[in-house]
Amino acid sequence: MSLIIDQLSCSLGKRRVLHDLAGMEARPGEITALIGPNGAGKSTLLRAIAGITMASGHMTLDGLSLETQSLGQRTRKLYYLPQDTSTQAALSVFEAVLLARRTQVAEPNRQALAAVAQALQSLELNPLAERELAALSGGQRQRVAIAQAIVRRPRLLMLDEPTSALDLHHQLQVLDYLHRLARQDDVIIVIAIHDLNLAARFADHLWVVKEGRHIVSGRPGDVLTPQRLREIYAIEADVEWPPGSSPRITPRSATRRLGS
Ligand SMILES: Nc1ncnc2c1ncn2[C@@H]1O[C@H](COP(=O)(O)OP(=O)(O)O)[C@@H](O)[C@H]1O
Ligand SMILES: [Mg+2]
Repeated sequence: MSLIIDQLSCSLGKRRVLHDLAGMEARPGEITALIGPNGAGKSTLLRAIAGITMASGHMTLDGLSLETQSLGQRTRKLYYLPQDTSTQAALSVFEAVLLARRTQVAEPNRQALAAVAQALQSLELNPLAERELAALSGGQRQRVAIAQAIVRRPRLLMLDEPTSALDLHHQLQVLDYLHRLARQDDVIIVIAIHDLNLAARFADHLWVVKEGRHIVSGRPGDVLTPQRLREIYAIEADVEWPPGSSPRITPRSATRRLGS
């Protein structure tokens, strides 16, 4: 049982943004990293899976067609955390995470409070629990949004550049936490991410898209080769793969300007 994209196309306005994506699978218990240049279609793909953006084609989650399900039905199984997590809501961190839990899980108060407390602790948000969302930094708000995503307990969790505003400590902490969450709860996690070293370290599987097309999928060590990086990002990069470790990518130079 997994998320499978058989065939997926999407147009925004008059522009075709995703072209017949196929052969993409994200498995439970694993982190799948979605990588590709700016404008490749990463956010559009995640939004199409979530049902927020209209798309045509065929996708299944645990064997059931997603496209035949209403937005409400999808919402019970999956959660999409968008790139932009700014908010004007006059809620404290604690209230915001509790509200996220309440929208998705019916349970006694005690259980809801325990789930929220655990999420706040895991993301080192306890010191901020009583602060208003509007009074947080971008990175702090991003961690709250991740806590809100986690307490919903989705079967499929999709996060759009969830570490883009985080300092190095919190990048590692969040990805390590998501990695453990996938393993422990058998969740399907898909993360759009630009940092290839983090992707190589924490992802079990990569999906690579460019100009709305699926270029390749596979294990980080198989996908992140100098030739592929040239093809995908138009960069010259060194790739070292120390034994027992994940591949390490050092970008050297841009080979030419990217087309779009
Ligand atoms: N509302 C829209 N209307 C038309 N084109 C759009 C719209 N939103 C995004 N696009 C275009 O779709 C392409 C894919 O965008 P996006 O999925 O956001 O890429 P990524 O997340 O990989 O950076 C880009 O060329 C972008 O300009
Ligand atoms: Mg994006």
